[in-house]
Amino acid sequence: MDGSLVDWSDAKIHIGAHVVHYGSGVFEGARCYDTEQGPAVFRLDTHIRRLYDSAKIYRMDYNLSPAELQDAVLDTIRANHYRACYIRPLMYRGYDSLGVNPFSCPVEAAILVWEWGAYLGDDALERGVDVQISSWGRGAPNRFPSVSKSTANYANAQLIKMEATLNGYAEGIALDPRGFVSEGSGQNIFVVRDNILTTPPLADSILPGITRDVVITLAKELGFMVKEETVPRETLYIADEVFFTGTAAEISPVRSIDKISIGGGSRGPITEAIQNQFFDVVNGRTQDTHGWLTYVYTEDNASERRATVTSETS
Ligand SMILES: Cc1ncc(COP(=O)(O)O)c(C=O)c1O
Repeated sequence: MDGSLVDWSDAKIHIGAHVVHYGSGVFEGARCYDTEQGPAVFRLDTHIRRLYDSAKIYRMDYNLSPAELQDAVLDTIRANHYRACYIRPLMYRGYDSLGVNPFSCPVEAAILVWEWGAYLGDDALERGVDVQISSWGRGAPNRFPSVSKSTANYANAQLIKMEATLNGYAEGIALDPRGFVSEGSGQNIFVVRDNILTTPPLADSILPGITRDVVITLAKELGFMVKEETVPRETLYIADEVFFTGTAAEISPVRSIDKISIGGGSRGPITEAIQNQFFDVVNGRTQDTHGWLTYVYTEDNASERRATVTSETS
């Protein structure tokens, strides 16, 4: 937290912190994978860049550079001796005054790391999930900027997720203010029909997902046509395949929407091909041609790694 390593149980902020009252925080979710070449964070620089973009939109200035915060992420993983973990960098307005005007409140930051498996359940990656179209829509573009990963946006995400959970679904898909498909509560969405992949564009109230970008790149490399185009709700029901993408959800097939079976009602072949490619890349099983992996241990800090291995085996 703000430059110090703090025990989990001591990682506290004041109840008067602005963020608690007004959602004045921006955050990231990244993953570190346990590759054969050692732990590596997937697209760390892109996540940190998006964090600073999110902060800029809300006029938040933090006193560390993106490169320094990136180093702090790696330090935090090393301090916890994790080989694989989820990473949650957060910038927020702390305590000064409790007016809505946040400018006097200090911009603080923390990085949390913890072990987190499959977000939508262990079966989800293989068997797919059942989802509903949410009765809650995404915010209009000039209400809440969806390009900023602001904590405030997740009030909307919670409404979507709670409704879906209470209705017995794994997720909800939100529509944009016009009624076109936007995204899940914490995932982007892809629709496959006749071997063409379509995903809603940034203008349709989505977060510019980093996994979305990875899937667009990998799908094109596999020879598929990918379109960033507005998706009418009904085209979901008649798709051959639908899948979610996200750092937490990774690539999760959707097997039914509103109780309508998608394609064959299980993971489709294109979803599986992209999943295989994705997991090969994140786990370092194929060459990292895009420079997407940042290794936690380098020549410079190899002694810390040896210490980790020794403490794990002793
Ligand atoms: C609302 C929303 N959309 C999409 C995503 C997927 O983004 P990414 O692939 O960068 O994790 C997330 C997760 O961060 C999200 O919260």
